[in-house]
Order: sequence, then structure tokens, then C-alpha cells
Amino acid sequence: MDLLNDYKGEPKELFEKWFEHAKKIGIEKPEKFYLASLGLDDFPQVRTVLFKGFVDNCFSFYTNYQSHKAKELAENPNVSALFYWLKDDMDHQIRVCGSVRKMSKEKSEEYFHSRPRGSQIGAWASPQSEKISSREDLDKKVQDLEERFAGKDIPLPEFWGGYLIEAKSFEFMILRKDRLHDRFLYKMLDGVWQRERLAP
Ligand SMILES: Cc1cc2nc3c(=O)[nH]c(=O)nc-3n(C[C@H](O)[C@H](O)[C@H](O)COP(=O)(O)O)c2cc1C
Repeated sequence: MDLLNDYKGEPKELFEKWFEHAKKIGIEKPEKFYLASLGLDDFPQVRTVLFKGFVDNCFSFYTNYQSHKAKELAENPNVSALFYWLKDDMDHQIRVCGSVRKMSKEKSEEYFHSRPRGSQIGAWASPQSEKISSREDLDKKVQDLEERFAGKDIPLPEFWGGYLIEAKSFEFMILRKDRLHDRFLYKMLDGVWQRERLAP
């Protein structure tokens, strides 16, 4: 897999080609990426989340809208997202910078209902990033919710949904021998993607 040096297309399509390849060769959880935001204390914060496909041309992921990340994104929507795939002929990194916005409720709802019932209950049960008293309390909450929603559809919690990352730049890197990697930065300028090679 070596599609970069002569690539002429759009960066999103290149991302898709690499992502498809990562899936094809059986990389475990190729959709996982590291999402960095600016913490409320001005320290960068990074965490793993799962890429759930392109929606309206943007990277999508889902989370709790009251989590630490959500509070940070409400203050500053600028993020950096890092994918790294390593297996066989693939030793590739992609860094995306962009801004996030919340996904429409309808799209979040559609995704929420496509999830296993246990994950839907899990979303309801967890006040993500908040202090909780014990594992037992969390398990009890799950049990209560299972009773509350028994035999019913589970609605989308108000505090849960998707974000869309609109990419402003992409940096693609193929790792090479002697650390002489190939590295290309795509930046959007006046509505057109510009590409430049960076030193590794
Ligand atoms: C492999 C993996 C995948 C994860 N995927 C998600 C995800 O898609 N959404 C999410 O909210 N948290 C996900 N998490 C948990 C986050 O890394 C993080 O702990 C959580 O979102 C709370 O982050 P925050 O306190 O910065 O808001 C995942 C963790 C791992 C290890």
C-alpha cells in the first residue's frame, strides 16, 4: 500500500482509500483515533474515540454532550484527530485538524438506535467524565434502566449524540526506512486543497 507520492485527488478520498485498506488487511479497530481538544485549564487533552463514517462530508464520532470533551468543545471547537495504522505493508499516520459542530438530532437518533441495546442503556447510565461513588452504583443504575425500558424502545438521551469534524487540514505520512518518511500536508485555501511536502 503506497498511495501518496503520485496521488492527485482530494485528501478525504485518500483518507478513505487508506481506511479501506486498513480494514481489508484486518487492522484491529481501524476506526479508533486520538482526539485532542483544548482543556478548560488550557492544557491539551487527548482521548480515544471511534470514527463512525463521513456525515455531510465531515468525520463523525459519538459521545456524551456533558462529558469533559463536550464542555471543552463548547468553549473551543478546534480539534486535532490522529489515526495510526500499523500492519503488514501499512505503517501510516494521518493527522486531521478541524472544527467540530454537533450533529443533527435526527442523525444522532438514527445511529443511537442502530447500537446494541446494552450500549443504549450504557449511554443512559453513564454521566461520562463525572465523579461516581462506586462500580456497584453504576451497575445498579443499569439494572434500574433495564427495568424502566423493559419491552420498550430506548429513546435517545438529550445528553448524547454525534459531533462532526470539518477538516481544515490533513497530514498524511508513510513511515519509511531510516526515518525518511513521506509526509504531505493538505491545506484548504480559498476553497481549494493545496498540497505540500514536509520534511519527515
Ligand atoms: C478504543 C476506545 C474507543 C473509545 N471510543 C469512544 C467513543 O467513540 N466515544 C466516547 O465518548 N468515548 C470513547 N472512548 C472513551 C474515551 O477515550 C474517553 O475516556 C471518554 O470519552 C471520556 O473523555 P473526556 O472525559 O475527555 O470527555 C473510547 C475509549 C477507547 C479506549
